[in-house]
Amino acid sequence: MSGVTVRVPAKVNVQLAVGGARADGFHDLANVFLAVDLFDEVTARPAACLTVTCEGPDADLVPLDASNLAARAAILLAERHGIAPDVHLHIVKDIPVAGGMAGGSADGAAALLACDALWELGSSREELLEICAELGSDVPFSLVGGAALGVGRGERLTPLEVGGSFHWVFALADGGLSTPAVYGEFDRLTEGVRVPDPVASPALLAALRSGDPVALAGALANDLQPAALSLRPSLAAVLETGLAAGALSGLVSGSGPTTAFLAKDAESARSVAEALTASPTCRTARTALSPTPGATILA
Ligand code: C5P
Repeated sequence: MSGVTVRVPAKVNVQLAVGGARADGFHDLANVFLAVDLFDEVTARPAACLTVTCEGPDADLVPLDASNLAARAAILLAERHGIAPDVHLHIVKDIPVAGGMAGGSADGAAALLACDALWELGSSREELLEICAELGSDVPFSLVGGAALGVGRGERLTPLEVGGSFHWVFALADGGLSTPAVYGEFDRLTEGVRVPDPVASPALLAALRSGDPVALAGALANDLQPAALSLRPSLAAVLETGLAAGALSGLVSGSGPTTAFLAKDAESARSVAEALTASPTCRTARTALSPTPGATILA
């Protein structure tokens, strides 16, 4: 086989409920993921040794060593099968880097699926999901896509029903935010406070099922938002700009610094994106639709 290409979506968390820090440093979550149609593509080709290359507007920000989740996916899969991870992984990157949209996780899930096909291993879905969970908390969702509730670290998924398409606008910021730093700030801000156990909001799950953007807008929630705003106060102006331009609601995407705005339809999404792009508060804005399928091998 000469090469396998996998397309993989970004995500937005429509609810990110965060519990107190656990003994292992992670936080229990009720994490409602929605896959959106901004995609990376990862191509796996036979090679003499493991190499990673990347192209795209933010390619210079992507590590090409074993810290890249795509490389780690190839290594873990090869180890399980007692083979050498001799593969060239080429990433075509369109998902914002370090933006809270699971771009690194997406590349891990895509590389895993691509290598499994290239090496003709025929791993089951369960085996792939197990490796995904080892790679990172958000990686299993990148494989399955659609909409899902993640509990535990966010890696134990239950698929969710979605009754329609939702129109999003994403405002991209300059520079990234480190996920561990944002969780660390969450811990600092909640010090001495009893953090309730995270639970999925019934109103939010009902809004997803109904496909009604107004209902979903009223239920969006991200417990990491105060921490992201504390580390990056300028995000408040981005949120104000999107809301003033007619978005139904806006929130920080995951650990940020990307902000996500829910619009009532495609036309409104376009005008919110135009207003954000024209404002000095963010680098640029992109529209996207959800839900969309997870990692998929392209013919
Ligand atoms: O699982 P992943 O490697 O993507 O997590 C990155 C970091 O985010 C962790 O090292 C931890 O600091 C934080 N995290 C957390 N609780 C979670 C998921 C991530 O504290 N449920």
